[in-house]
Amino acid sequence: MKKLENKKILLIICGGIAAYKSLELIRLFKKMGASVKTVVTKNAKKFVTNLSIASLSQDKVYSDLFNHENEAEMDHISLSRWADLILIAPITANTISKLSHGLADDLASTLVLASNKQVFLAPAMNVRMWEHDSNKKNVNKLVSYGYRLIGPEIGDMACGEYGEGKMTEPQDIINNILNYFENLRKNKKLKALVTAGPTQEKIDPVRFISNKSSGKQGYEIANSLKNNGIETTLISGPTNLKPISGINLINVNTAEEMLNKCLDCLPVDIAIFTAAVADYKVKNIYEQKIKKRENLNLDLEQNVDILKHISNHNSLRPKLVIGFAAETNNLKKNSIEKLSEKNCDWIISNDVSNPEIGFNSESNKVSIFYKNKIEENLPKMSKSAIANEIVNKIISDFN
Ligand code: CTP
Repeated sequence: MKKLENKKILLIICGGIAAYKSLELIRLFKKMGASVKTVVTKNAKKFVTNLSIASLSQDKVYSDLFNHENEAEMDHISLSRWADLILIAPITANTISKLSHGLADDLASTLVLASNKQVFLAPAMNVRMWEHDSNKKNVNKLVSYGYRLIGPEIGDMACGEYGEGKMTEPQDIINNILNYFENLRKNKKLKALVTAGPTQEKIDPVRFISNKSSGKQGYEIANSLKNNGIETTLISGPTNLKPISGINLINVNTAEEMLNKCLDCLPVDIAIFTAAVADYKVKNIYEQKIKKRENLNLDLEQNVDILKHISNHNSLRPKLVIGFAAETNNLKKNSIEKLSEKNCDWIISNDVSNPEIGFNSESNKVSIFYKNKIEENLPKMSKSAIANEIVNKIISDFN
């Protein structure tokens, strides 16, 4: 069987000298059995003709956002829903900038913004453009949204300069995509469980004990697991985050409920505990609202440690158990202690005393403690970029 049989590739071609290589890409995709639809930007038309693209793809070329010639024609939504994967090759600095800002002023940018599919980017541009801080920032932003980069490569450029910015060769782009589909196929066999958000422990009918966790990091990890084809259940305490399509979301309030739902989920291959579980609960919850009084002493008892309970499960311990540690001091010492005390495989720690990272912020800066090594101080990244890093590490651990 051809390796890309039944796969639907939406190829977007932007305007650059490397656009000629996209013809070879189409030829290779077709040879491997894929169906290819193409979208060209206004500038791409200056480098490659519709006729050559249509001849190779054996389909029409899409380029205009509003084409009223044929009512039944595929629009930006149906094109992106049709595809299994979107590849933009070459992508220029201009389109990178547009996508990173959510601009939608032509068919290509509109359909990518409206897309629910994995997007691959194969950039091609002059080395100075590629290395410019503004371009780097835009690229990092796209990576943090989950777009995958292929290249660019170092070499002689069409403009006569030398450096990083050459589009990856078509065969290597295809190999990347083959790997992606192969990993999806393998990952489909994997099941993951993620806990996220705070828990709320009732004091009386209107009050509770909780904490400032936003749940963002856990939701991002669940999203990245799902994007990699892993069947994911997210058990979440109360947050303001929207459910993610394709993820089995289970809402809970208390630590006890969270534990029970986790147990219901077993067996899983991977369990990631990002929830900021309240350490204590009220021993006897007041049935009536507590009236104001001079002094109030609440009788608290320790909550069950969900992570520890699951990681010590006799028969159903997940193959990979990952805990998170939120620390304000002695990060390294506490993390190493938690790793062994909670019997988990990895502990991912962050310093929550720094308001720019951790609880409720958009970014995070973590260190990963494994049983036999430490990866200290990964660079500060958006929570979705951290999630992608962690999930890539999980996938390599399983392959
Ligand atoms: N955790 C859990 N159940 C609890 C407490 C913590 O599953 N009752 C998990 C968290 O989801 C996290 C890890 O244990 O993955 C560490 O949580 P953290 O709050 O840093 O540590 P604690 O065990 O609560 O210890 P301490 O608060 O003393 O630092």
